[in-house]
Amino acid sequence: SPLQLLDSFGRVHNNLRISVTDRCNIRCFYCMPADNVEFMPKEELLSFEEIERVVRIGTTLGIDRVRLTGGEPLVRRDLPKLVEKLSAVPGIVDIGITTNGVLLSEQASALRDAGLQRLNISLDALDPEVFKKVTRRDSYDKVIEGIAAARAAGFSPIKLNAVSVKGMTEDQIIPFAELARETDTEVRFIEFMPLDADSQWQRDKVLFAADIVAILENRFGPLTPVPARNPNAPANDFQFADGRGRIGLIASVSQPFCSSCNRFRLTAEGKLRNCLFSHEETDVRGFLRGEGTDEQIAEAMLSCIASKREGHEINTARFIQPDRPMYSIGG
Ligand code: GTP
Ligand code: 5AD
Ligand code: SF4
Repeated sequence: SPLQLLDSFGRVHNNLRISVTDRCNIRCFYCMPADNVEFMPKEELLSFEEIERVVRIGTTLGIDRVRLTGGEPLVRRDLPKLVEKLSAVPGIVDIGITTNGVLLSEQASALRDAGLQRLNISLDALDPEVFKKVTRRDSYDKVIEGIAAARAAGFSPIKLNAVSVKGMTEDQIIPFAELARETDTEVRFIEFMPLDADSQWQRDKVLFAADIVAILENRFGPLTPVPARNPNAPANDFQFADGRGRIGLIASVSQPFCSSCNRFRLTAEGKLRNCLFSHEETDVRGFLRGEGTDEQIAEAMLSCIASKREGHEINTARFIQPDRPMYSIGG
């Protein structure tokens, strides 16, 4: 049988999430420090050619899906060129990008032309004041323009990711649901995970999936689970009683989906991470920039996956937040 990225719990990894930069043009409190962020020096970032090589080698081990993340991926110059290169890699059947949308009005059509099929846009609030509180920036109008540009470029449905935070975003749940019911938009509410830069995460700041369901059902009546379009996607999908609209809940804290995890990550400076919450990494940049062979890079991937733990331990007393916050790992 062909080589596979199989871990010791029987999980097969076919999905690589690639961070293309740690830089970002907004400052979401659940991800980045407020100021004085130290970014990676540019020369440490993998080039598009280096990323393409990792992906090509990955396809020999069963990788068939990639997602580009950041930081904010669209701040990386010429990103559509990378999309074009990766679309041309034999064996890659799905490429996605997760973006904050700020630069989409400028880039949506170029990304579409480059072959991008799937675009997830992060937007935590429909109220500009709440948006500003979460992101510490005034870019709400740019994101709304970006969503319109994505729609005009042909991305459909538009998928929005809304991180939900207790005491901050409860009021946003109903407006998001209305948007999902009235337009070609899927909204996914995400539980706040302990991956912020300032260690502000506390369990009592998590707006749990069950809380969100209660808010929605109180207004719209019972929600019905619907099968996920992709069984490995982290979201549990639901329909409203009248059949209009679809929403998802990414309950990473209260209902971890680690047992069906098929993903691992490549950081912008070329480290493989087998879990968002891992405390070890496997370097590949050394091989890429030295005389490393394809076999050595494949070995690095196999050993990274072989050492993967069963899952995150957020709900245990053993949990230790990783040193690297989300913007530095990649979303
Ligand atoms: P689709 O293929 O469209 O389903 O994309 P996705 O949901 O895999 O990717 P996206 O970047 O949109 O992820 C949405 C959110 O899910 C992220 O912001 C994270 O909060 C969470 N998430 C994504 N991948 C993981 C993961 O491997 N582990 C955990 N715990 N959470 C994840
Ligand atoms: N908890 C949950 N989701 C997070 N994201 C960033 N930081 C966190 C966190 N601490 C999300 C963003 C975006 C994706 C890239 O990661 O909102 O949807
Ligand atoms: Fe996979 Fe780790 Fe995320 Fe669990 S926490 S789903 S094991 S990446």
